[in-house]
Amino acid sequence: MKQKLEEIKVQAKAALEAADSTQAVDEIRVKFLGKKGELTAILKQMGSLSPEERPVMGQLANEVRGEIEEAIAVSLKEMKAKAQTARLEKEAVDISISGKRKENGSLHPINSALEDLIDIFRSMGFDVVDGPEVETEYYNFEALNVPADHPARDMQDTFYLTDSMLLRTQTSATQIRTMESRKPPIRMIAPGRVYRSDDVDATHSPVFHQVEGLVVDKGITMCDLKGTLEQMAREIYGKDTKVKFRPSFFPFTEPSVEVDVSCSECGGKGCRVCKGSGWIEILGAGMVHPRVLAGCGIDPEVYSGFAFGIGLDRLTTTRHKISDIRLLFENDMRFLKQF
Ligand code: DAH
Repeated sequence: MKQKLEEIKVQAKAALEAADSTQAVDEIRVKFLGKKGELTAILKQMGSLSPEERPVMGQLANEVRGEIEEAIAVSLKEMKAKAQTARLEKEAVDISISGKRKENGSLHPINSALEDLIDIFRSMGFDVVDGPEVETEYYNFEALNVPADHPARDMQDTFYLTDSMLLRTQTSATQIRTMESRKPPIRMIAPGRVYRSDDVDATHSPVFHQVEGLVVDKGITMCDLKGTLEQMAREIYGKDTKVKFRPSFFPFTEPSVEVDVSCSECGGKGCRVCKGSGWIEILGAGMVHPRVLAGCGIDPEVYSGFAFGIGLDRLTTTRHKISDIRLLFENDMRFLKQF
């Protein structure tokens, strides 16, 4: 029995030496020390020993158990240390590797111009509303007093989706939606994309951007229109900017004007940016036509209003002296990074 105990001790230690995982160590514990293990099997035979031998063997068996337990503990400790070292090695950060540069994004020049406009108009009490790009003929033309034979209604100028649905050609459609859903006083701007069936060149794109504006209240006059738009133009182009109102025509305003600002590049002398005229046209505007007000359920005898439509792309190109509108839409990083 004594020899058997020695053998168990030697075998267990050898097995532990060879074990390469905590699971293997656990299996060894069960094999030698478990309830059905080899050491337990020996102890069960104690009954057959003489009373003198029993305590001697008992003590020896306990010693063997103690030694195996200790060897197991040592083995587990070593394994834990090894696993930790391996993990640390795997997770090690090589601080000598050069980093991955994160490119900083920036606002597109159209968006930064729009943000400036929003700030300017918000400070004057306007709110910002949104309208759909897919519009009905009614909102885009009819309610805006655009007659059926107006050239803008032609297929050559407008992208029709069905007989009565189209891609809006002007953000003015949002004026109607706003007047239908709200009561005066109204002070809003409506920025967004608009579409026209134009060929692409340095000054035309089939999709471009407008910022519509609308003010409706009692006693609104042309003076309010002039003051508001002059203020906007000076904040965008600089406080010495001159603003010119030219008579014009739009079906939904009466009277109508087009607004030019003095060219910030040449100061009005005439240059490439203003095409020699000294002035840059930035928007159309006017007093809301009484028929348009009435069509939206607003009594033109009580209320009046003004409206304007800013060409955002043109405002952006002239502001940054960009000579070709296509640059705004091509998303060439070399161009965009300059802003
Ligand atoms: N919708 C016009 C256009 O696309 C611009 C415009 C002119 C808007 C006069 C207005 C306005 O609100 O009053 O050419």
